Amino acid sequence: MSTSQVQFHDLHTTRDEFVDDVLQGLARRPASIPPKYFYDARGSKLFDAITELPEYYQTRTEIEMLKRNAAEIARRVGTGSLLVEPGGGSCAKVHILLEGLQPRAYVPMDISHEHLRIAAEELAIAFPWLEIHAACTDYTKEMALPPSAPRGTHVAFFPGSSIGNFDPAGAVDFLDSIAELLGPEGYLLIGVDLKKDRALLEAAYDDAAGVTAQFNLNLLQRINRELGGDFALEHWQHKAIYNDMAGRIEMHLVSMLDQQVKIAGNTYSFARGETIHTENSYKYTTDEFIELAARSGFVSEQVWVDDNALFSVHLFRVQQGHASD
Ligand code: AVI
Repeated sequence: MSTSQVQFHDLHTTRDEFVDDVLQGLARRPASIPPKYFYDARGSKLFDAITELPEYYQTRTEIEMLKRNAAEIARRVGTGSLLVEPGGGSCAKVHILLEGLQPRAYVPMDISHEHLRIAAEELAIAFPWLEIHAACTDYTKEMALPPSAPRGTHVAFFPGSSIGNFDPAGAVDFLDSIAELLGPEGYLLIGVDLKKDRALLEAAYDDAAGVTAQFNLNLLQRINRELGGDFALEHWQHKAIYNDMAGRIEMHLVSMLDQQVKIAGNTYSFARGETIHTENSYKYTTDEFIELAARSGFVSEQVWVDDNALFSVHLFRVQQGHASD
């Protein structure tokens, strides 16, 4: 590998933000912590393990759909683009697109520093012709391209139904910032989990091997380790339920008894049965999602759904003249 092929930009800060978000979130009732904090080194590994679980149909279904439609995607989008992947920490799915798309450069953006660095270097070995500008950044806050990134048709790739981790208003804000980054005529290729039977959804977030439970509980371990918290992990339990009205899976950590937790000199009381809400994962029909994306100026070019109607992949284009400015 030529090391100059990968440029690494650490645009991300901050332990302070983690402290503030945790302290404020635990003081709120119901208590909540933003899901982006799942992804420390162990959390990122656990998430990779989730994607291999038999119950977690999303990843394998989307990969299969991308493989099956890669040539068609490349035909529509064209070669020589600047391919941007917010949250592309493991650079895993982009492999499927690169041969066909032949982008001029690839910009993975991720909050998890080591995960991103290793993945970018591995990708550079597999695709020696590809320019990579890895940006360690919290893409939920800022969406700037690294200054070194070249020009070209901008294509954003946002797989994995990560859009579902925003609430719908937040998803529109996020899609607004993608539309702005892409500019007129840019493309967005995005994976979106579909609404479906409750049992299938709940199993995907509460697997028999307990990996998702570990992933959820790791958040408390991270707070203990990085912020000096004293969560007793054995007194908290993972819970995942489908909230039909809201169209979302909710993940919670349930307090198994009346207890107090100390973090950075603050004390928080939790009654038995009280929860810390750690994640939402919204599910959309294809029409609901097309309507949502239209609010950010995206026009649907194509939507693919697998044979079992589990998952959707949408290709959108930024509407020319859409006034986000
Ligand atoms: C990253 N994100 C799309 C996953 C999801 O399905 O909402 C995170 C996840 N949480 C539990 N399992 C997977």
